[in-house]
Amino acid sequence: MKNIAVLVSGGGTNLQALIDAEKRSEFPSGRLSLVISSKADVYALERAVNNNIKTAVVSWADFKPDRKAFSQEILKLLKENNIDLVVYAGFMIILDECVCTAFPNRMINVHPSLIPAFSGEGFYGLKVHEAALARGVKLSGATVHFVNEICDGGEIILQKAVEVKDDDTPETLQARIMEVEREILPKAVKLLV
Ligand code: GAR
Repeated sequence: MKNIAVLVSGGGTNLQALIDAEKRSEFPSGRLSLVISSKADVYALERAVNNNIKTAVVSWADFKPDRKAFSQEILKLLKENNIDLVVYAGFMIILDECVCTAFPNRMINVHPSLIPAFSGEGFYGLKVHEAALARGVKLSGATVHFVNEICDGGEIILQKAVEVKDDDTPETLQARIMEVEREILPKAVKLLV
C-alpha cells in the first residue's frame, strides 16, 4: 500500500476529488494518509478531518520568508509518515528543492492552465485565469505534472483543455477548469500508485 500525502492551502476541492476517488476504489493500492496545510483554518483541513485523514499545519506565516526551514519541516513530516507519493492540490507555496529531490518522480502538482502557458512564479489561483483572459486565449485547461526544482517545470503527466467563452470572468473560467482538475488529478494518482 502506498501512502499518499496531499498538500493544500485553501478550499480543498481537489483534495475532495481524491477522497471521492479513493472511496470509489479508483486507486486501491494507495491510501490518503496525510494532509498538510500551509494555513490553519482552511476548509481543506475540515474535509480531511471529516474523512478521518491525519492532518498537519505547517503555517507559512510562521516561517515566512524562510522557505528552507518551512520546506524542511514539511519534509520531516513526509518522512515520519512514510509517504510514497506527494500531491500538491492547491498548495500555494513554492518549496525548496530539498523536498522534490527527496521524492524524485513521486511528487505531482495540479496547475490551472495548459502548461507552459500561464505558469511559473506568480501564476497561481485566479491570477492564472485573469492572465488567460487578458491574453485572449480561446482554450485553457488544467495540467498535472511532476514537481521538480523549476516552478511548474516538471514533466507533464496529463492535460485537459476547456473552451474559453466570450463572456467568461476569471471566476467562471476558474470554475470550468476546476471541474477538469477534479477529473485529471485522481487519474494521475491512479496512474502513479
Ligand atoms: C486550483 O485551481 C489549483 O489548480 C490552483 O489553486 C486551486 C486550488 O483549489 N493551484 C494553483 O494555482 C497552484 N499554482 P482547491 O483548494 O479547491 O483544490
